[in-house]
Amino acid sequence: MKLFTLISAGLLCVSLTSSAISADVQAGAKVGQTCVMCHGENGLATMAGTPSLAGQSEIYLVNQLKHFRDGSRVNEVMSIIAKPLSDADIDNVSAWFSQFQVELKKR
Ligand code: HEC
Repeated sequence: MKLFTLISAGLLCVSLTSSAISADVQAGAKVGQTCVMCHGENGLATMAGTPSLAGQSEIYLVNQLKHFRDGSRVNEVMSIIAKPLSDADIDNVSAWFSQFQVELKKR
């Protein structure tokens, strides 16, 4: 709970770290432009009910997108959005969002 308070009161800073291994980050940035209207600029969400994608591990993002796509995770918005994504789209957009590092700071 204390951690949650710290996080919610925290100031989030986003910075770039080294790019991901095999995925095409530039192509991922293009796919990502359709996501940032909900998930926030560079994946730092400000909309209630929408999680930040910035700084999440690449494998976590890949898995969640595949789960939305195959129906093992269901959300009325994301299930529709993930459907047309190819494996390459998923790898690339996950690499793009995961390259941002999120730092928590107390105000
Ligand atoms: C119309 C708004 C909207 C758009 C556009 C959108 N998302 Fe989402 N996304 C959501 C919401 C809302 C959730 C939370 C789903 C839930 O509660 O299960 C979510 C959840 C996710 C998650 C799971 C995160 C987690 O922490 O488990 C991933 C990954 C994700 N979105 C990726 C994407 C990608 C990649 C795109 C672009 C191709 C995208 N989203 C576009 C609204 C959106």
